[in-house]
Amino acid sequence: MQPNEAARGLFSSVASNYDRPAEILSLLQYSRWHRYLLADLRLPGDARVLDMATGTGAVALKLAKLSGGQVMGADITRPMLIQAKERAARKGILHRLEFIECSAEAVPFTDSVFDTVIFTYLLRYVSDVPSTVRELARVLRPGGTMLSLDFAVPGPMVYPLWRLYTSLILPLAGAAISPAWMRVGSFLGKSIRRFYDRWPENRLAELWRDCGFPGVQSRRLSLGGALVMWGVKVT
Ligand SMILES: C[S@@+](CC[C@H](N)C(=O)[O-])C[C@H]1O[C@@H](n2cnc3c(N)ncnc32)[C@H](O)[C@@H]1O
Repeated sequence: MQPNEAARGLFSSVASNYDRPAEILSLLQYSRWHRYLLADLRLPGDARVLDMATGTGAVALKLAKLSGGQVMGADITRPMLIQAKERAARKGILHRLEFIECSAEAVPFTDSVFDTVIFTYLLRYVSDVPSTVRELARVLRPGGTMLSLDFAVPGPMVYPLWRLYTSLILPLAGAAISPAWMRVGSFLGKSIRRFYDRWPENRLAELWRDCGFPGVQSRRLSLGGALVMWGVKVT
């Protein structure tokens, strides 16, 4: 199965019940990590912001509150986008957001149109990581900021605990929620480990530098279980 199809299948099945399980299974870190990601972001009133892999719009809705401009939420999974739209409508801010169904691997916008580009929990699902990061950088204007967040594998002190949680407790906790969440819970630990083997923090930072972010910075959160990366595009 192609990566896009696998991701669509996985996320379609949890879309109608996503945010609360995500919060619980991340041991209450899911919203905290989003808040950290956006904490220092200063957006001008007319900013155009892209939230790629927006899912149910958790980050996009926060961005819409931060900025007077327009926020574009993009994702390949239609049921996730439907949830995002309904959520924005319930909060009365649907007019501040637009949603588009597309892949991060082929972003349907011209170069340099966004002031800020954000993606959270995306790169593990794409088939070509470098070309996806390059594609996201392409639609960001020079001087604009790109930010990302994903799970990471903690260092040796914490690893045994993390491994126990992701290999054993997460699938069981997922199963207690629903069969669809059991699939997610069983898949996640392996997916994080495989991605992190190929794309550890320093290699990812190198990729960002190659894509026009020479001053890329990163920070590990929650004992190393999450990685936030951000940088300003210079070319
Ligand atoms: C774990 S969810 C995260 C959703 C949201 N970013 C958040 O922080 O809550 C991952 C999202 O990535 C989306 N996704 C996976 N592959 C994608 C791709 N190639 N292009 C765009 N979105 C993709 C999935 O559909 C899913 O909604």
